[in-house]
Amino acid sequence: MKTPAIQTLGFIGGGNMAEAIIRGILSKGLFKPQQIVATDKSGERRDYLAKTFGIPVLSSNKEVLEKADAVLFAVKPQNIVDVMTDLRDHIRKDQLFLSILAGTRAATIEAGLASPQFPRPRVVRVMPNTPALVGMGMAGISGGTNATEADVDLAQSIFSSVGKVIVIEEVQMDAMTALSGSGPAYLFYVIESLIEAGVEIGFSAEESEEIVLQMVLGSAVLARESGKPVEELRRQVTSPGGTTAAGIAVLDAREVRDDFIAAVVAAEERGQQLGKLGR
Ligand SMILES: NC(=O)c1ccc[n+]([C@@H]2O[C@H](COP(=O)([O-])OP(=O)(O)OC[C@H]3O[C@@H](n4cnc5c(N)ncnc54)[C@H](OP(=O)(O)O)[C@@H]3O)[C@@H](O)[C@H]2O)c1
Repeated sequence: MKTPAIQTLGFIGGGNMAEAIIRGILSKGLFKPQQIVATDKSGERRDYLAKTFGIPVLSSNKEVLEKADAVLFAVKPQNIVDVMTDLRDHIRKDQLFLSILAGTRAATIEAGLASPQFPRPRVVRVMPNTPALVGMGMAGISGGTNATEADVDLAQSIFSSVGKVIVIEEVQMDAMTALSGSGPAYLFYVIESLIEAGVEIGFSAEESEEIVLQMVLGSAVLARESGKPVEELRRQVTSPGGTTAAGIAVLDAREVRDDFIAAVVAAEERGQQLGKLGR
């Protein structure tokens, strides 16, 4: 993993995603604890981050801006306008801004941070997902108008520490959000349904959960490691006239595949709507 070209990385918003990223970059040795500064609105959360990671936790967003060479915004989209308004006049030359906010365009961040002194802030937009919490994330990265190749490289190094990374065009960000940002929820939905099904056919809830989680994990690892197309793996389990074929026939008859496609398309359209609202 490349050593980042910055000394100090700041986090504004210290919730779930920030915690996952901080854990990843520390465990991979990408930054030392003293090279990370963070803050959160909540005092309780600040204490938690300081205690958990031994990093300097500061009491205001401005202090983080003052100390950091690159600042990662990890607040909810509805909070970003206030955050940027507060910081805009205190930005230093050469600072980079990373945003993981869902549905908030790089151009919105650029406009929110632009000042007469620094009219062209450098912004990199990233769409991570919650499996980053266990180091198995998938993140899409795209540079804003003024971002350099080195800025995108830095974002790649950071997010590679909590999973895989793909560099995409910003026009694909809503698609990334719909497929991989929201994706864990679709799979959790399937997992919940299968656990319920297990109970329906006679297992206890605990047994069913254990069986389903191991089966899902094993299937994902097999799909990745076998080198075979997923469709072939599915066919291998589906003997004509057998048990799996009976199950798949029900899914096909109910057009469940189309439903999944429709769900992802709906999520992508919602991302576009939210982007237009300037979130
Ligand atoms: N979770 C996901 O699956 C996911 C995936 C991709 C992208 N994202 C994006 O990641 C961002 C963070 O998500 P998350 O799940 O980590 O949310 P989260 O756990 O709610 O974390 C956000 C944190 O920011 C704090 N905060 C709010 N306003 C602030 C301010 N003005 N200054 C400093 N801190 C402030 C919040 O404190 P309070 O709770 O006290 O308000 C909260 O602790 C969101 O923009 C989301 O769109 C999330």
